[in-house]
Amino acid sequence: MARIEGFRVKNFKVFKEITLGRLWNQRESEPLTHMTAVIGKNGAGKSTLFDAFGFLADCLKNGVEEACDSRQRGGFSRIRSQGQEGLMYLKNGCGKGGKDKEQGGLFHF
Ligand SMILES: Nc1ncnc2c1ncn2[C@@H]1O[C@H](COP(=O)(O)OP(=O)(O)O)[C@@H](O)[C@H]1O
Ligand SMILES: [Mg+2]
Repeated sequence: MARIEGFRVKNFKVFKEITLGRLWNQRESEPLTHMTAVIGKNGAGKSTLFDAFGFLADCLKNGVEEACDSRQRGGFSRIRSQGQEGLMYLKNGCGKGGKDKEQGGLFHF
């Protein structure tokens, strides 16, 4: 079964740029382990981290416009990091066990 080994989020709400684990083109970084705990004070971005995946799922299921407006996200201008003009960017690295089968995805908005 595929699992997420790492991901990068850029210009998504409070995250101007974060990278966790190993991306598909970063062999030198350590992948996320089988269990990852997310800990942080209020407002640190815990919910935002999970909504990055939720947003991506909604985009693929319902389209970008609807995804921006659903789940109280408030539209693209509220989703993109305040003060940033660049594109919003979600990238992941997935592993299927063997190095030859690694896959990644890159989404720009
Ligand atoms: N578009 C945005 N640009 C920058 N910061 C944002 C944006 N949208 C929300 N935030 C900030 O993200 C923070 C909320 O993060 P959240 O994921 O709810 O934290 P937690 O779940 O850890 O309490 C708040 O500080 C809020 O001001
Ligand atoms: Mg929260």
